[in-house]
Amino acid sequence: MRIFISVLFLFVLFSHAAAYDPLDPNGIVTIKWDIVSWTPDGYVAVVTLNNFQMYQHIMNPGWTLGWTWAKKEVIWSMVGAQTTEQGDCSKFKGNIPHCCKKTLTVVELLPGVPYNQQFTSCCKGGVLASWGQDPQAAVLTFQVSVEMAGTSNKTVKLPKNFTLLGPGPGYTWGPAKVVPSTTFLTQDHRRKTQALMTWNVTCTYSQFLARKNPNCYVSFSSFYNESITPCPSCTCGCQNKNNCVKSDSKILKMVGLNTPKKDNSPLLQCTHHMCPVRVHWHVKLNYNDYWRVKVSVTNFNYRMNYTIWSLIVQHPNLNNVTQVFSFDYKPLVPYESINDTWMFYGMKYYNDLLMEAGPFGNVQ
Ligand SMILES: *[C@@H]1O[C@H](CO)[C@@H](O)[C@H](O)[C@H]1NC(C)=O
Ligand SMILES: *[C@@H]1O[C@H](CO)[C@@H](O)[C@H](O)[C@H]1NC(C)=O
Ligand SMILES: *[C@@H]1O[C@H](CO)[C@@H](O)[C@H](O)[C@H]1NC(C)=O
Ligand SMILES: *[C@@H]1O[C@H](CO)[C@@H](O)[C@H](O)[C@H]1NC(C)=O
Ligand SMILES: *[C@@H]1O[C@H](CO)[C@@H](O)[C@H](O)[C@H]1NC(C)=O
Ligand SMILES: *[C@@H]1O[C@H](CO)[C@@H](O)[C@H](O)[C@H]1NC(C)=O
Ligand SMILES: *[C@@H]1O[C@H](CO)[C@@H](O)[C@H](O)[C@H]1NC(C)=O
Repeated sequence: MRIFISVLFLFVLFSHAAAYDPLDPNGIVTIKWDIVSWTPDGYVAVVTLNNFQMYQHIMNPGWTLGWTWAKKEVIWSMVGAQTTEQGDCSKFKGNIPHCCKKTLTVVELLPGVPYNQQFTSCCKGGVLASWGQDPQAAVLTFQVSVEMAGTSNKTVKLPKNFTLLGPGPGYTWGPAKVVPSTTFLTQDHRRKTQALMTWNVTCTYSQFLARKNPNCYVSFSSFYNESITPCPSCTCGCQNKNNCVKSDSKILKMVGLNTPKKDNSPLLQCTHHMCPVRVHWHVKLNYNDYWRVKVSVTNFNYRMNYTIWSLIVQHPNLNNVTQVFSFDYKPLVPYESINDTWMFYGMKYYNDLLMEAGPFGNVQ
């Protein structure tokens, strides 16, 4: 007798969460400032971003961090990151600060910048992997030198109104709070040093804020039936229906089709579902003791190379995964009671890149 596979499961790709994500209840992004030295009229701080989410990456074109100064601070210099605008520094003579804006926006430097502009974990163009997938790539630091800022923990005022885009909306953030100073181990691990002052900020992610429509959908097929159960029409909304490109169209040959837009807007291949990503679940074997499926993830966005991706699958039988080929995987166990949810992701240097729509825009 053949046991039919229950098709009761939930897929999430790249991003999924309610205001609070039951599969990742502790998932947050933290921003930490450590003042490492005082200067005549300010301080030098190391800013650390940690993506403590299990599977939510900050993907290309990367994060954007903003804040508002509490006083008349200016950024004298930065290493590993830069502000997007310098602002009005006309009152400075001689050396000109890096940024004089009160409310400013910071982005990471792109790969390949000169060595003297790099900082420890520098220059991945703002991409931050999730902690669950790649803890080493989930952290980023840059250095900022601030003047006109006060020179003691009594006169320094914390920046306000932090904002984080990752890269789109979806993050909310709390106020900065002074916390016990971070301690650092020296390179030889024989001495501890301590920040002069530390504050941190918590950001949480919400899919509700990020987008109205899902960004992927699942279709099914099996070895025992020719027909494919497709993604329903307009699964991901059809507002882009007039702005899509037919895969056989001459436009494909146009130069610049794959050029990412500043606002991160997609250019989708025309499909009836209009999803940027489709997951196809094909049942290859179905026995009493086990079943085997082939999962294909297809990118329909001509303007997006997913430099890192993950796929979250919930299925009753996933409490007993025996073998997985071509993807890395680990269980997501937010609570004892959830043991049927796994995270699948690309193997480094093999299929961790999901290319733009086209002949190479899929992983299996
Ligand atoms: C400020 O620095 C003084 C010593 O310089 C220290 O005693 C005090 O605890 C610090 N306060 C805070 C809030 O870090
Ligand atoms: C910070 O944000 C709050 C609420 O969004 C706003 O009322 C306040 O004016 C902002 N402060 C600054 C200094 O921009
Ligand atoms: C802030 O720092 C404190 C003390 O190090 C730590 O307990 C807390 O978890 C940190 N919070 C965030 C959001 O990083
Ligand atoms: C194949 O699937 C279709 C659609 O679900 C169904 O109508 C049809 O009866 C199936 N055929 C067989 C042989 O099971
Ligand atoms: C994706 O990567 C390929 C190869 O690196 C590159 O040629 C292409 O322009 C990239 N596409 C986008 C949308 O960034
Ligand atoms: C998991 O699978 C193995 C063999 O594939 C089987 O022996 C075992 O009973 C299964 N465990 C559960 C909890 O289903
Ligand atoms: C998974 O959790 C369910 C209830 O939440 C429990 O009945 C089942 O025994 C668990 N399975 C394993 C393999 O731990």
